[in-house]
Amino acid sequence: MRFDIISCQPDLLDSPFSHSILKRAQQKGLAEIHIHDLRKYAVNKHGQIDDYAFGGGAGMVMMIEPIDKCISELQAERKYDAIIYMTPDGQTLNQGIVNQFSLLENVIILCGHYKGVDERVRQHYVTHEISIGDYVLSGGELGAAVLADAIIRIIPGVLNDESSALTDSFQDGLLAPPVYTRPAEYKGMQVPDILMSGDTPKIEQWRFEQAIERTKQRRPDLLNEE
Ligand code: ADE
Repeated sequence: MRFDIISCQPDLLDSPFSHSILKRAQQKGLAEIHIHDLRKYAVNKHGQIDDYAFGGGAGMVMMIEPIDKCISELQAERKYDAIIYMTPDGQTLNQGIVNQFSLLENVIILCGHYKGVDERVRQHYVTHEISIGDYVLSGGELGAAVLADAIIRIIPGVLNDESSALTDSFQDGLLAPPVYTRPAEYKGMQVPDILMSGDTPKIEQWRFEQAIERTKQRRPDLLNEE
């Protein structure tokens, strides 16, 4: 899967993609990340990419022209399945949305800044608007990294069996059950006997019940979803 991320602060995106699982996914050829500096498409030699809002008010608005130029250049090379705009007033990200995006081949992620982008970009270029939660970040870059991370880790082949995404919280609509590792007893704190019983069907049943109990207590809203 190929990600083209458009940003006016591309440095912010260097680190998240150069470590651990996301780095390995790129090395294995399962994910490609291309970061594009919007200033390269600025409207003048001063690197201008934003301007005052028509009608007045505080805050700058990202201009349509640099965004159009950058997106058009990318689209001349390949077809994109989605152009995603990161914004606090987008659809709140969840595992279901992540799963759907993971089926796509080429996506553009546009990072917003300041007061956001000229509305015409949202109307005529953007196909999906995503928020990573009900709070405002200083730009869309961290949101783009969160979105790309969540997608890339579930691409088949990215995780090995021990860290399989199939048993993640949310993947079956439930939170994940508790997990334990050695030692079986530490300072009087015991691991539940059932996990050491070797009885796989019973262990699976226990895990399922724990997942339901945890979801009931922490996220009852998940149990009421379709
Ligand atoms: N940009 C600023 N805040 C954001 C948020 N909560 N989600 C996605 N992009 C954003």
